[in-house]
Amino acid sequence: MTTTFANETTSNSNFDYALGYTNGEHDRLIRQAARIAPVTERLFREAGIGPGQRVLDLGSGVGDVAMLVGGLVGASGEVVGIERDANSIARARARVNLAGLRNVSFTQSDVSHIVSDQPFDAAVGRFILMFLPDPVSALRSLTKLVRPGGVLVFQEPSWVPFLAFGARLPLWSRVLGAIHETFLRSGVNPEMGPALYRIFQEIGLPAPIMHMETPLGSDADFTSLICDLVGSLKPLAQQHGVAFEVLGDIETLQDRIQAEVASSNSVVGFVPLVGVWSRKPADGQRREQTSAESSEG
Ligand SMILES: C[S@@+](CC[C@H](N)C(=O)[O-])C[C@H]1O[C@@H](n2cnc3c(N)ncnc32)[C@H](O)[C@@H]1O
Repeated sequence: MTTTFANETTSNSNFDYALGYTNGEHDRLIRQAARIAPVTERLFREAGIGPGQRVLDLGSGVGDVAMLVGGLVGASGEVVGIERDANSIARARARVNLAGLRNVSFTQSDVSHIVSDQPFDAAVGRFILMFLPDPVSALRSLTKLVRPGGVLVFQEPSWVPFLAFGARLPLWSRVLGAIHETFLRSGVNPEMGPALYRIFQEIGLPAPIMHMETPLGSDADFTSLICDLVGSLKPLAQQHGVAFEVLGDIETLQDRIQAEVASSNSVVGFVPLVGVWSRKPADGQRREQTSAESSEG
Protein backbone atom coordinates (compact mmCIF):
# COMPACT_ATOMS: atom_id res chain seq x y z
CA MET A 1 0.00 0.00 0.00
CA THR A 2 1.72 3.19 -1.11
CA THR A 3 0.66 6.76 -1.02
CA THR A 4 2.92 9.10 -2.94
CA PHE A 5 2.93 12.81 -2.68
CA ALA A 6 3.95 15.06 -5.50
CA ASN A 7 5.69 18.30 -4.68
CA GLU A 8 6.64 17.09 -1.22
CA THR A 9 8.55 19.75 0.67
CA THR A 10 11.53 18.84 2.82
CA SER A 11 12.57 22.20 4.17
CA ASN A 12 10.73 23.75 7.07
CA SER A 13 7.74 25.85 6.21
CA ASN A 14 7.54 29.52 5.71
CA PHE A 15 4.06 29.28 4.25
CA ASP A 16 1.57 32.04 3.99
CA TYR A 17 -0.74 30.45 6.57
CA ALA A 18 -2.93 32.86 8.54
CA LEU A 19 -2.41 31.51 12.06
CA GLY A 20 1.33 30.83 11.76
CA TYR A 21 3.34 28.06 13.36
CA THR A 22 4.48 29.34 16.77
CA ASN A 23 4.58 27.00 19.77
CA GLY A 24 1.88 29.18 21.28
CA GLU A 25 -0.43 28.57 18.30
CA HIS A 26 0.30 24.83 18.42
CA ASP A 27 -0.56 24.78 22.14
CA ARG A 28 -3.77 26.69 21.37
CA LEU A 29 -4.72 24.13 18.69
CA ILE A 30 -4.24 21.30 21.20
CA ARG A 31 -6.40 23.05 23.85
CA GLN A 32 -9.00 23.86 21.20
CA ALA A 33 -9.04 20.24 20.00
CA ALA A 34 -9.67 18.98 23.54
CA ARG A 35 -12.72 21.28 23.90
CA ILE A 36 -14.31 20.45 20.54
CA ALA A 37 -13.37 16.75 20.26
CA PRO A 38 -16.88 15.53 21.25
CA VAL A 39 -18.47 17.62 18.47
CA THR A 40 -16.01 16.31 15.88
CA GLU A 41 -16.35 12.72 17.04
CA ARG A 42 -20.17 12.85 16.84
CA LEU A 43 -19.93 14.13 13.27
CA PHE A 44 -17.47 11.44 12.20
CA ARG A 45 -19.53 8.64 13.77
CA GLU A 46 -22.71 9.95 12.12
CA ALA A 47 -20.90 9.99 8.74
CA GLY A 48 -19.97 6.34 9.22
CA ILE A 49 -16.26 6.55 10.06
CA GLY A 50 -15.51 3.28 11.81
CA PRO A 51 -13.33 0.20 12.34
CA GLY A 52 -11.04 -1.01 9.55
CA GLN A 53 -11.32 2.09 7.35
CA ARG A 54 -8.48 3.85 5.58
CA VAL A 55 -8.91 7.60 6.14
CA LEU A 56 -7.17 10.70 4.84
CA ASP A 57 -7.00 13.70 7.21
CA LEU A 58 -6.36 17.05 5.50
CA GLY A 59 -4.41 19.82 7.22
CA SER A 60 -3.51 17.74 10.27
CA GLY A 61 -1.75 20.49 12.19
CA VAL A 62 -0.37 18.88 15.34
CA GLY A 63 -2.40 15.73 14.81
CA ASP A 64 -5.60 15.96 16.88
CA VAL A 65 -8.12 15.02 14.19
CA ALA A 66 -5.90 12.20 12.89
CA MET A 67 -5.55 10.80 16.41
CA LEU A 68 -9.30 11.01 17.02
CA VAL A 69 -9.93 9.13 13.76
CA GLY A 70 -7.16 6.65 14.67
CA GLY A 71 -9.27 5.67 17.67
CA LEU A 72 -12.42 5.29 15.56
CA VAL A 73 -10.86 3.12 12.83
CA GLY A 74 -8.95 0.97 15.34
CA ALA A 75 -5.92 -1.23 14.83
CA SER A 76 -7.30 -2.73 11.61
CA GLY A 77 -7.72 0.74 10.07
CA GLU A 78 -5.27 3.41 9.00
CA VAL A 79 -5.11 7.21 9.05
CA VAL A 80 -2.83 9.23 6.77
CA GLY A 81 -2.52 12.86 7.84
CA ILE A 82 -1.52 15.50 5.31
CA GLU A 83 0.20 18.63 6.59
CA ARG A 84 2.63 20.94 4.86
CA ASP A 85 4.49 22.30 7.88
CA ALA A 86 7.46 20.18 9.02
CA ASN A 87 7.43 21.39 12.65
CA SER A 88 3.73 20.66 13.01
CA ILE A 89 4.32 17.15 11.67
CA ALA A 90 7.22 16.59 14.07
CA ARG A 91 4.97 17.52 16.99
CA ALA A 92 2.11 15.40 15.62
CA ARG A 93 4.39 12.36 15.26
CA ALA A 94 5.74 12.76 18.79
CA ARG A 95 2.18 12.91 20.17
CA VAL A 96 1.10 9.86 18.16
CA ASN A 97 4.10 7.89 19.49
CA LEU A 98 3.33 8.97 23.03
CA ALA A 99 -0.28 7.82 22.59
CA GLY A 100 0.95 4.47 21.18
CA LEU A 101 -1.14 4.84 18.01
CA ARG A 102 0.50 2.65 15.37
CA ASN A 103 -2.20 3.22 12.75
CA VAL A 104 -1.65 6.99 12.31
CA SER A 105 1.06 8.46 10.07
CA PHE A 106 1.75 11.90 8.63
CA THR A 107 3.10 13.05 5.29
CA GLN A 108 4.39 16.48 4.45
CA SER A 109 2.53 17.74 1.42
CA ASP A 110 0.24 20.44 0.19
CA VAL A 111 -3.36 19.15 0.26
CA SER A 112 -3.69 19.96 -3.44
CA HIS A 113 -0.86 17.60 -4.42
CA ILE A 114 -1.81 14.23 -2.99
CA VAL A 115 -1.48 11.21 -5.25
CA SER A 116 -2.34 7.75 -3.96
CA ASP A 117 -2.53 4.41 -5.74
CA GLN A 118 -4.89 3.04 -3.06
CA PRO A 119 -8.31 4.61 -2.62
CA PHE A 120 -9.41 5.89 0.80
CA ASP A 121 -12.69 4.96 2.48
CA ALA A 122 -13.03 8.52 3.75
CA ALA A 123 -11.47 11.96 3.64
CA VAL A 124 -11.89 14.24 6.65
CA GLY A 125 -10.73 17.68 7.71
CA ARG A 126 -11.35 20.33 10.35
CA PHE A 127 -10.55 24.05 9.92
CA ILE A 128 -8.60 23.45 6.71
CA LEU A 129 -10.78 24.35 3.68
CA MET A 130 -11.28 27.90 5.05
CA PHE A 131 -7.53 28.54 4.56
CA LEU A 132 -7.22 27.20 0.99
CA PRO A 133 -7.05 29.69 -1.89
CA ASP A 134 -9.00 27.29 -4.14
CA PRO A 135 -11.04 24.87 -1.99
CA VAL A 136 -13.18 23.80 -4.97
CA SER A 137 -10.30 22.37 -6.98
CA ALA A 138 -8.67 20.90 -3.84
CA LEU A 139 -11.93 19.08 -3.02
CA ARG A 140 -12.37 18.00 -6.63
CA SER A 141 -8.96 16.27 -6.68
CA LEU A 142 -9.52 14.88 -3.20
CA THR A 143 -12.79 13.26 -4.27
CA LYS A 144 -10.84 11.20 -6.82
CA LEU A 145 -8.83 9.66 -3.95
CA VAL A 146 -11.98 8.41 -2.18
CA ARG A 147 -13.54 5.13 -3.34
CA PRO A 148 -17.07 5.13 -4.78
CA GLY A 149 -19.40 4.86 -1.79
CA GLY A 150 -16.76 6.45 0.46
CA VAL A 151 -17.46 9.56 2.49
CA LEU A 152 -16.16 13.15 2.65
CA VAL A 153 -16.57 14.84 6.04
CA PHE A 154 -15.56 18.35 7.03
CA GLN A 155 -15.98 20.63 10.00
CA GLU A 156 -15.59 24.30 9.08
CA PRO A 157 -16.71 27.57 10.71
CA SER A 158 -19.52 30.05 10.35
CA TRP A 159 -18.61 33.37 11.95
CA VAL A 160 -21.88 35.23 11.18
CA PRO A 161 -23.83 33.63 14.09
CA PHE A 162 -20.69 33.84 16.25
CA LEU A 163 -20.53 37.63 15.81
CA ALA A 164 -24.27 37.97 16.45
CA PHE A 165 -24.18 35.93 19.67
CA GLY A 166 -21.20 37.91 20.98
CA ALA A 167 -22.60 41.35 20.11
CA ARG A 168 -23.93 42.11 23.62
CA LEU A 169 -20.39 42.13 25.15
CA PRO A 170 -18.49 45.19 23.84
CA LEU A 171 -14.86 44.05 24.28
CA TRP A 172 -15.51 40.44 23.29
CA SER A 173 -17.37 41.75 20.27
CA ARG A 174 -14.42 43.99 19.29
CA VAL A 175 -12.08 40.99 19.54
CA LEU A 176 -14.30 38.88 17.30
CA GLY A 177 -14.70 41.78 14.86
CA ALA A 178 -10.92 42.30 14.60
CA ILE A 179 -10.27 38.59 13.99
CA HIS A 180 -13.10 38.38 11.46
CA GLU A 181 -11.84 41.44 9.57
CA THR A 182 -8.31 39.99 9.46
CA PHE A 183 -9.68 36.75 8.00
CA LEU A 184 -11.69 38.62 5.36
CA ARG A 185 -8.82 40.88 4.29
CA SER A 186 -6.32 38.02 4.08
CA GLY A 187 -8.49 35.69 2.00
CA VAL A 188 -9.48 33.24 4.77
CA ASN A 189 -13.15 32.25 4.38
CA PRO A 190 -14.95 32.50 7.77
CA GLU A 191 -18.15 31.17 6.13
CA MET A 192 -16.52 28.03 4.74
CA GLY A 193 -18.98 25.77 6.57
CA PRO A 194 -22.21 27.00 4.91
CA ALA A 195 -20.38 27.38 1.57
CA LEU A 196 -19.84 23.63 1.43
CA TYR A 197 -23.49 23.03 0.57
CA ARG A 198 -22.90 24.59 -2.85
CA ILE A 199 -19.30 23.38 -3.28
CA PHE A 200 -20.07 19.70 -2.62
CA GLN A 201 -22.73 19.75 -5.35
CA GLU A 202 -20.55 21.77 -7.73
CA ILE A 203 -17.95 18.96 -7.69
CA GLY A 204 -20.56 16.25 -8.30
CA LEU A 205 -21.29 15.06 -4.76
CA PRO A 206 -24.85 14.67 -3.47
CA ALA A 207 -26.21 17.58 -1.40
CA PRO A 208 -24.50 17.09 1.98
CA ILE A 209 -26.03 16.41 5.38
CA MET A 210 -25.20 19.49 7.48
CA HIS A 211 -25.56 20.77 11.00
CA MET A 212 -24.07 23.50 13.14
CA GLU A 213 -23.00 23.18 16.75
CA THR A 214 -21.65 25.90 19.04
CA PRO A 215 -19.85 24.98 22.25
CA LEU A 216 -20.57 27.53 25.00
CA GLY A 217 -18.56 28.44 28.07
CA SER A 218 -17.38 31.17 30.41
CA ASP A 219 -14.13 29.88 31.93
CA ALA A 220 -10.73 31.37 31.10
CA ASP A 221 -9.52 28.27 29.24
CA PHE A 222 -12.53 28.57 26.93
CA THR A 223 -12.30 32.32 26.20
CA SER A 224 -8.52 32.06 25.75
CA LEU A 225 -9.03 29.87 22.68
CA ILE A 226 -10.31 33.00 20.92
CA CYS A 227 -8.20 35.61 22.80
CA ASP A 228 -5.01 33.75 21.92
CA LEU A 229 -5.97 33.91 18.24
CA VAL A 230 -5.31 37.65 18.53
CA GLY A 231 -1.63 36.93 19.25
CA SER A 232 -1.40 34.36 16.43
CA LEU A 233 -3.04 36.74 13.94
CA LYS A 234 -1.18 39.93 14.93
CA PRO A 235 1.43 39.81 12.11
CA LEU A 236 -1.28 39.19 9.52
CA ALA A 237 -3.49 41.96 10.93
CA GLN A 238 -0.58 44.42 10.67
CA GLN A 239 0.10 43.30 7.10
CA HIS A 240 -3.55 43.97 6.16
CA GLY A 241 -4.01 47.18 8.15
CA VAL A 242 -6.45 45.83 10.75
CA ALA A 243 -6.06 47.93 13.92
CA PHE A 244 -5.67 45.53 16.84
CA GLU A 245 -4.84 48.65 18.93
CA VAL A 246 -8.59 49.09 19.57
CA LEU A 247 -8.32 45.98 21.77
CA GLY A 248 -5.90 47.72 24.16
CA ASP A 249 -2.88 45.99 25.71
CA ILE A 250 -2.81 42.41 24.42
CA GLU A 251 -1.01 41.28 27.61
CA THR A 252 -4.11 42.15 29.67
CA LEU A 253 -6.74 41.28 27.05
CA GLN A 254 -7.58 37.87 28.46
CA ASP A 255 -8.12 39.28 31.99
CA ARG A 256 -10.32 42.08 30.66
CA ILE A 257 -12.38 39.60 28.62
CA GLN A 258 -12.80 37.35 31.65
CA ALA A 259 -13.97 40.31 33.75
CA GLU A 260 -16.49 41.26 31.05
CA VAL A 261 -17.84 37.72 30.74
CA ALA A 262 -18.02 37.30 34.53
CA SER A 263 -19.88 40.58 35.04
CA SER A 264 -22.40 39.59 32.34
CA ASN A 265 -23.12 36.37 34.26
CA SER A 266 -23.56 34.58 30.94
CA VAL A 267 -21.71 32.38 28.48
CA VAL A 268 -19.93 33.13 25.23
CA GLY A 269 -19.65 30.86 22.23
CA PHE A 270 -16.80 29.16 20.47
CA VAL A 271 -16.82 29.42 16.66
CA PRO A 272 -19.95 27.62 15.40
CA LEU A 273 -18.80 24.34 13.88
CA VAL A 274 -20.59 23.41 10.69
CA GLY A 275 -20.45 19.65 10.15
CA VAL A 276 -20.82 18.62 6.51
CA TRP A 277 -20.76 15.17 4.96
CA SER A 278 -21.74 13.39 1.81
CA ARG A 279 -21.08 10.01 0.24
CA LYS A 280 -19.36 9.73 -3.13
CA PRO A 281 -21.86 8.04 -5.48
CA ALA A 282 -21.12 4.38 -6.20
CA ASP A 283 -19.98 3.71 -9.81
CA GLY A 284 -23.39 2.26 -10.83
CA GLN A 285 -25.22 5.33 -9.54
CA ARG A 286 -22.87 7.64 -11.42
CA ARG A 287 -23.42 5.74 -14.66
CA GLU A 288 -27.21 5.83 -14.14
CA GLN A 289 -27.07 9.56 -13.50
CA THR A 290 -24.90 10.18 -16.55
CA SER A 291 -27.14 8.19 -18.91
CA ALA A 292 -30.30 9.81 -17.47
CA GLU A 293 -28.71 13.23 -17.98
CA SER A 294 -27.71 12.44 -21.59
CA SER A 295 -31.17 11.02 -22.47
CA GLU A 296 -32.74 14.21 -21.07
CA GLY A 297 -30.44 16.35 -23.19
C1 LIG B 1 -6.24 25.51 11.91
S1 LIG B 1 -5.08 24.22 11.66
C2 LIG B 1 -6.16 22.82 11.94
C3 LIG B 1 -5.42 21.61 12.39
C4 LIG B 1 -6.32 20.40 12.67
N1 LIG B 1 -7.11 20.04 11.53
C5 LIG B 1 -7.20 20.65 13.88
O1 LIG B 1 -8.41 20.86 13.72
O2 LIG B 1 -6.66 20.65 14.99
C6 LIG B 1 -4.88 24.17 9.88
C7 LIG B 1 -3.67 23.37 9.43
O3 LIG B 1 -3.76 23.22 7.99
C8 LIG B 1 -2.48 23.34 7.43
N2 LIG B 1 -2.59 23.77 6.05
C9 LIG B 1 -3.08 24.95 5.59
N3 LIG B 1 -3.05 24.97 4.26
C10 LIG B 1 -2.54 23.78 3.85
C11 LIG B 1 -2.26 23.21 2.58
N4 LIG B 1 -2.51 23.88 1.46
N5 LIG B 1 -1.73 21.97 2.52
C12 LIG B 1 -1.47 21.28 3.67
N6 LIG B 1 -1.72 21.78 4.91
C13 LIG B 1 -2.24 23.01 5.01
C14 LIG B 1 -1.77 24.37 8.29
O4 LIG B 1 -0.37 24.23 8.16
C15 LIG B 1 -2.31 24.04 9.68
O5 LIG B 1 -1.46 23.16 10.34
